Amino acid sequence: MPSELSPIDKAKFVAARRATKFVETGMKVGLGTGSTAAWLVRCLGELVREDGLRIKGVPTSTRTAQLARDVGIEVISLDEAKWLDVTIDGADEYDADLNLIKGGGGALLQEKIVATASDQMVVIADISKRVETLGAFPLPVEVIPFGWKTTQTLIEELLVGMDVLGATSALRMNGDVPYVTDEGNHILDLHLNRIGNARQLSLVMNQIPGVVENGLFIDICDAVVIGYGDGRVEVQDINKGTTEESRYDFLESANLFADLTD
Ligand code: A5P
Repeated sequence: MPSELSPIDKAKFVAARRATKFVETGMKVGLGTGSTAAWLVRCLGELVREDGLRIKGVPTSTRTAQLARDVGIEVISLDEAKWLDVTIDGADEYDADLNLIKGGGGALLQEKIVATASDQMVVIADISKRVETLGAFPLPVEVIPFGWKTTQTLIEELLVGMDVLGATSALRMNGDVPYVTDEGNHILDLHLNRIGNARQLSLVMNQIPGVVENGLFIDICDAVVIGYGDGRVEVQDINKGTTEESRYDFLESANLFADLTD
């Protein structure tokens, strides 16, 4: 039960729970990937099963698609949906302008396509994801498998001229073999420590042949819902310039989730 969760999971849960208020019956909803987004999918599933919420979900990964179906959410493809009312997803880092690093879970490509095809993108996170400057979290870059070492060299050469504090990269592994994304690509994690100009880096990175997409989400996120382990939640809306606070009572939800595995 949520009352037995660790503080970090409570923070993720309350952020996800609060973010369901962005969703209304009839909406087409982008469903993010990762442990925080998994809470969101479970919360929406509960609203579908018990409160009659009617939505169509567009998942950003095969694992989110599976979870969404498991909890009773109707799943459609982005091509069927064409455009979404809202996408709710986690993030690896966010800054004061709500620019993001995403892709720690390997789903950055579908996540960026889905978020960009949405009227609104809402990030759900615990406070540990907030940073002054993006870059402490390694920046994921999705590259096609063909010639990935050449692409890596080109990326590292590019980084020499960029406003970053590191320029090393590593092929993401899955045990002994390269990690493969849902789109059949690999991921290079760039250890940059600090990204001085994320907008510029995002633009030039995508000019390199072999780079499919990078994990910088610039001017895509509209609001962030920040959860805390004690049940507090803040909603920061970058367009309205507002921050709202509320608190979640864990006792209300004592019977919500029997299955807490991601
Ligand atoms: C998935 O590819 C990522 O973009 C996730 O959204 C990000 O890693 C956040 O995941 P957690 O919610 O598990 O921290």
